[in-house]
Amino acid sequence: MKVHYDLPLAEGYLGNQRKLTLQHFVPAFKSILKRIQKFKKIDPGTKILEVGTGIGWFPILCKKHGISCTGLDICPQLVDYAFEFGGRNGIEPDIRLGNIEDEDIGHSTYDIIVALSTFEHVEQWQRGLRKIYSALKPGGLFYFYSSNRFSPLSGECTMPLPFYGLLPKRWRYRIQISQLGEEIMKWGMDFNQFNPFQLKRFFSGLGYQRVIDQFGIVGPNDLIQRKRWKVVVLKLIHRVKPLRYVGLAFLPGTCFICIK
Ligand SMILES: C[S@@+](CC[C@H](N)C(=O)[O-])C[C@H]1O[C@@H](n2cnc3c(N)ncnc32)[C@H](O)[C@@H]1O
Repeated sequence: MKVHYDLPLAEGYLGNQRKLTLQHFVPAFKSILKRIQKFKKIDPGTKILEVGTGIGWFPILCKKHGISCTGLDICPQLVDYAFEFGGRNGIEPDIRLGNIEDEDIGHSTYDIIVALSTFEHVEQWQRGLRKIYSALKPGGLFYFYSSNRFSPLSGECTMPLPFYGLLPKRWRYRIQISQLGEEIMKWGMDFNQFNPFQLKRFFSGLGYQRVIDQFGIVGPNDLIQRKRWKVVVLKLIHRVKPLRYVGLAFLPGTCFICIK
C-alpha cells in the first residue's frame, strides 16, 4: 500500500469528523487508558505510539494529560487535519505520515503501542503486527482493536448487510467498490475481517508472553455504561467458559491486550 495524496474519500470521512470536538473523544480515551492501566502503569516517562491516528484525538489527549505519545498515519489529509485539530485545542501533536507496513518504528522503543480500528485497513497486516512486536520494549503492551468477521453487523459496510464480515474477500471488495468507487482500494478498504481465535494464536506465535482477550480486559466493574443486563451477562461469561467463546465470536469488534 502506497501513501496516496488528494483522496476525495478521505475528505468525505473528514467531513463527519470535523463536526466532532475533542471533548467527544474523552470517554473513549479514558476507557482505553483505564483498560491499559489494569496491566501497565502509565507515567510521564512512558513512551506510547499510536498506529493509524485518524484525526489525532488519541495523541492530542495524551499530550494534554502530560503523556508522551507519537503517532503514524498513512493519509496526508488526516495528518494535516490532526495538526489543525490539535492547534484548535492548544496542542501540537507529534504525528508523522507513513505506512506501518514500511515505516521504521524502531526496536525495543515503546512501552505501549495502540492501534484503534486501523488493522482492518492494513493490507499486509501480519507484517505490520510483526513490526509492532519488535518496536515494543520487553514487558511492553500492545492495545489492539479491529474488526470481527463473525459479528452480525459491521461498521465497515455502508449497506445493512448482516454477516458482511463472513463474505469472501472478492465479494466484499466488489460491494465496497460499487458503493464507494475504485478509490476505496487506495484508502479505506477493510482488507481484513479478523477471526479473533486465529488472531489470538497469531499474537502468541509472535512471542507475546500474555494475550488477553476482551473478557480478560473488561470485567463487570469496568463497564462505561453500567447497565444491569450487561453486568449479569458479563458475570455469566466470566463463570461459564463456553459462553466466553460465543461472546468473543459475536462481539462487534476484536480487542486484545498483548504483553511482550
Ligand atoms: C478508521 S480510522 C481510525 C482512526 C483512529 N484510530 C480512531 O480510532 O479514530 C483508520 C486509520 O488508520 C489509518 N491507516 C490505514 N492503513 C494504515 C497503514 N497501513 N499505516 C498507517 N495508518 C493506516 C487510516 O488512514 C485512518 O486514519
